[in-house]
Amino acid sequence: MSIEEMNELAPKKEVMFWNAHEIRQIEGFWFYAYLMESVAAFRSDFQPKSDDILVTSFPKTGTTWLVALCHNILHRDDRVEDDVLTRMNPHELVPTLDVFFLTDQVQDLVLNSDRSNRLLQTHLPYTCLPEAVRNSGCKIVHVTRNPKDTLVSMWHFFNKIVKRDPDTDPFPLEGAVESFCSGVLPWGPFHEHVVGYWEESRKRPDEVLFLTYEDLCRDPKREVRKLASFLGKPFSSVSMDGGDDEEVEKVLWRSSLGRLRELEVNKNVVSDLTQISNSSYFRKGTVGDWKNYLTPQMAGRVDQLTQLKLQGTGLSL
Ligand code: A3P
Repeated sequence: MSIEEMNELAPKKEVMFWNAHEIRQIEGFWFYAYLMESVAAFRSDFQPKSDDILVTSFPKTGTTWLVALCHNILHRDDRVEDDVLTRMNPHELVPTLDVFFLTDQVQDLVLNSDRSNRLLQTHLPYTCLPEAVRNSGCKIVHVTRNPKDTLVSMWHFFNKIVKRDPDTDPFPLEGAVESFCSGVLPWGPFHEHVVGYWEESRKRPDEVLFLTYEDLCRDPKREVRKLASFLGKPFSSVSMDGGDDEEVEKVLWRSSLGRLRELEVNKNVVSDLTQISNSSYFRKGTVGDWKNYLTPQMAGRVDQLTQLKLQGTGLSL
């Protein structure tokens, strides 16, 4: 479908809470109107390779962490001085394809590279991925997160990047809950987004790996071993002496919130590509932070919706 046809058909909505931009609904999901051209170009022009690794996520579910983990697994033999993440924020190194597909950075540096195992990233729902990706056999790694923590993380993020002036009141949290629960938010609805990848991971476990932020926090070593094996770069198995546990720990440390946040590049640098401060991607990184923000009524509303939407899927979040 051409961009003109898509625009013609797409229902439109002003987003009052998340930001000032209009969003449009395509194939059941909402996208920023100003990104329609980029989304359409990604969907029609992207040429995947069978050894590509595509990180997929709903925003604020752990994308930055997963990108860093994949990068550090693939480059674990690099000396720490050569670690490109000390010079580049993960979102610059691996830009979101549906957002930045038409930029030189993506076209020249990411897509035209003849590297094997290109590391790529998108927030598109599974059913909206380019047809070519779904048939390419490339590896898809999806991360998701508890919906209430995702919502609270998103609320903080938008307050930081859209409101900008720290002296004004934050966007009302009620509006964020409403938006999240109605599904009318960029890349939403959240639950349908997650279920698409979950179901595909059950059908094609060798090609689609489904991870959660909570599992990564609970047992990071196990999850990193699982991820590395899935990417075809396994660590040696754990034996009496712990196998190559040190290597796993190195990957975890290089990818950690504590380390990345303290790098100069992630402090007060505004990215030329994303136009936002690299520091915006790093906040608390704790499980259950929603308890500090959502009222019992708000939490109950999200829980009820989650229960309803995940019923019968075998997934619980
Ligand atoms: P909080 O807002 O709960 O702190 P995304 O990367 O998809 O934008 O998700 C952002 C969330 O992941 C934020 O959560 C952020 O603090 C957390 N995060 C960012 N980098 C991380 C890392 N390296 N390890 C763990 N969590 C990380």
